[in-house]
Amino acid sequence: SVDITKLRAQTGLVTLDSGFKNTGATTSGITFLNGEAGVLRYRGYAIEDLAEHASFLEVAYLLIYGNLPNPEELNHFTSEITRRTLVNEGVKKIFAGFPVNAHPMGVMASLASSLASFYPESIDPHRTPDLVNLTIIRLLAKFPTLAAWSYKNSNGHPVNYPRNKLNYVQNFMQMMFALPTYEYEIDPDVEEALNKLLILHADHEQNCSTSAVRLVGSSQASLYSSVSAGISALWGPLHGGANQQVIEMLDKIHQDGGDVKKYIEKAKDKNDTFRLMGFGHRVYKNFDPRARIIKKSCDKVLNKLGIKDPTLEIAKKLEETALNDDYFVERKLYPNVDFYSGIIYRALGFPIDMFTVMFTLGRLPGWIAQWKEMREAQQPISRPRQIYTGSTARDFVKLEDRG
Ligand code: ACO
Repeated sequence: SVDITKLRAQTGLVTLDSGFKNTGATTSGITFLNGEAGVLRYRGYAIEDLAEHASFLEVAYLLIYGNLPNPEELNHFTSEITRRTLVNEGVKKIFAGFPVNAHPMGVMASLASSLASFYPESIDPHRTPDLVNLTIIRLLAKFPTLAAWSYKNSNGHPVNYPRNKLNYVQNFMQMMFALPTYEYEIDPDVEEALNKLLILHADHEQNCSTSAVRLVGSSQASLYSSVSAGISALWGPLHGGANQQVIEMLDKIHQDGGDVKKYIEKAKDKNDTFRLMGFGHRVYKNFDPRARIIKKSCDKVLNKLGIKDPTLEIAKKLEETALNDDYFVERKLYPNVDFYSGIIYRALGFPIDMFTVMFTLGRLPGWIAQWKEMREAQQPISRPRQIYTGSTARDFVKLEDRG
């Protein structure tokens, strides 16, 4: 056992908060989250209002610059992004180096990082505000192109170049799904659902990936390197990677005869490593408001597309059973943002390993806003302390004398 008092005497007074369960790393004016009440606001605006009335680029502008844009500001922002959607042809050579079955999240982390090589001026820690802005615009512009190309590459299909007469969401879907032999046209309800999903994922204060972006950025690393770290953090199954895990879990339950209770019991069993994916949250101890909106959207999209996905019924049964079970009630475990999103992504035609990439597309403005806020506040380099629990001082023994 560890004598914390003795260790503190050696280290000085250090607060130990494993997993940062109760440690604030920063002040922030971007996102307000009340986990007890299930409230989420971006820059003071309710998530429900933004999801219902705004476009994804309006929300991106709001998060990054602090206010909703007026029509002129939105036009300018949109056209600055739209004319930069093309990526350097050299990117295709990077793709060629990946195996075809490479997970697109790994590919995206590499590609985001590679932008620092294509735009070396982004590395300069003394960049002017105009240059910072250009770095931001380029990232927003090129990210959907890179995401869609990573999917095309994994299929061995030729990539689609951006079509700038389309809006942000339409353009992405065109690059994802059009083929030389097939002109893709997006259904307006599909576009609305996707726009909503992106908005709902756009920021969530100091979550794991955003904290990774801020931590890397605090060394004055470039935005592109910082966002690459965020992508890697998001990929983990306990964070954004959960949306892929949820659908795999729902499929498994379906193939196993749809016995929801059996899986609820497994999730409760402390000797079993199985967890109900898409359930629980570090901050929400009430219904995640994003999950509520996505669940509605899910019903609408599946109805519109005439898709009967048995996993939607399984998800609803799981939710109902869990919310009436003491284990989940006592621990305040509710469906989170990842619980229903995968069912929509699948209905829209996304393969499972693109689900977490869809999360990155939504989260990008949040990462950018948080990075920008941190740099503008001139936050010092992040450098947590530790309490050392290793060996005390030992005499060195030469290799030949070690038994
Ligand atoms: N299934 C079963 N039990 C759970 C689950 C779950 N999904 N989530 C939490 N618990 C239990 C824990 O075992 C623990 O029980 P105990 O008190 O008896 O030990 C208690 O609830 C508290 O859970 P912690 O793991 O301590 O909570 P923490 O805040 O550290 O973790 C997390 C939050 C990672 C989201 C967790 O709930 C989880 O693993 N959920 C499944 C993965 C998931 O859906 N992740 C996506 C989160 S949303 C996002 O990142 C976008």
